[in-house]
Amino acid sequence: MTTTEKYKSDLETPCLVLDVDVLERNLKKMQAVVEHAGKNIRPHVKTHKCSALAQRQIEVGAIGVCAAKVSEAEALVKAGLENILITGPVVTPSKVEKLINLLTTASSLMVVVDHPGNIALLDTALRARRMSMGVLLDVDVGMHRTGARPSDALALAEQIVSCPNLRLQGIQAYAGHVQHIRSYEKRKHTSHQCLQEAVHVFRDLNTSVPTCTIFSASGTGTFDIDLAVPEVSELQVGSYVCMDTEYLEIESDDKGTRFESFGPALRLLTTVISVNHESFVTVDAGLKALYQDGGKPQVIVPENSGLKYDWFGDEYGKITCFDNSKLPSIGTVLELITSHCDPTINLFDRYFLTRGEKVTGTWLIDLRGCSQ
Ligand SMILES: Cc1ncc(COP(=O)(O)O)c(C=O)c1O
Repeated sequence: MTTTEKYKSDLETPCLVLDVDVLERNLKKMQAVVEHAGKNIRPHVKTHKCSALAQRQIEVGAIGVCAAKVSEAEALVKAGLENILITGPVVTPSKVEKLINLLTTASSLMVVVDHPGNIALLDTALRARRMSMGVLLDVDVGMHRTGARPSDALALAEQIVSCPNLRLQGIQAYAGHVQHIRSYEKRKHTSHQCLQEAVHVFRDLNTSVPTCTIFSASGTGTFDIDLAVPEVSELQVGSYVCMDTEYLEIESDDKGTRFESFGPALRLLTTVISVNHESFVTVDAGLKALYQDGGKPQVIVPENSGLKYDWFGDEYGKITCFDNSKLPSIGTVLELITSHCDPTINLFDRYFLTRGEKVTGTWLIDLRGCSQ
């Protein structure tokens, strides 16, 4: 053993670890399934917020990555990534300026648009800088968060085509409200129904606009379902890399099997710090370390221990067990699967990479806090 070797037990908690073997399995499985269907993957970095992991996704075969915000794209470009799609509209002059600045080093950068004023603003700003860029028309397929109504989509597409400094490269149709529907059959039916409206828009544009070839859609919950839609050209999946309990609790097929297509690569380590009660012990991870939305985290190590996590304020959690005699002793480190991975990851500066009990490295969560 060298003196530099580090183990999980050496880590100060609470902290995030990524099980490298599970992570690699997740990456390669998604890539293989998507490639087998003849489609591409442009994974969403909003989940992991880490340019090193984004780079690994590219090495495994992704054609590029998605970012939610301009500041995320800035960090990705700084780290040398290309083929970035910003999946939300950029509507203020200062952010449009930043977007155009990015184009000077990342000419393949694309952004979605969903409004005539936004299209005009982008085109004018680009013209002033004698530049052009690719855009995807965001089509609202039922979530109503962003995106043009399908009935307005063709008129907006005409406007884009008439703008000399914009290139209509395709459409985006993200059905976020469908991803966590527990029943597989219902999820499948709803996703196909939602995407159908976007399919009509895409068919029209794909035949009339030569550059309009991208149909970007999907998330982890419908990845296999949406691969069956011939027009979909790329998947924007995010959570599959890390996974969380919200996803592990949905059905993965029509037999009601738990969603185990991808494994829980992301774990949060937390230490028992107080044991002065018979019915519970206290751990050092609370609301500041675990995002609360999406239910309660699940104790995965020690395995099959019957231990349950509950919230215990900003800094702490409460661990109970149906059999009080099995409560962990002071100093014990527990591993939790987070309930909602994206906002939990955004609370930390780094991942510790682990293989078994060994810590093999760290990755900075360098896009952390990039919400602008
Ligand atoms: C626009 C968009 N695309 C893709 C994703 C990825 O979804 P998931 O994490 O469910 O795979 C998200 C996640 O919120 C999203 O907002």
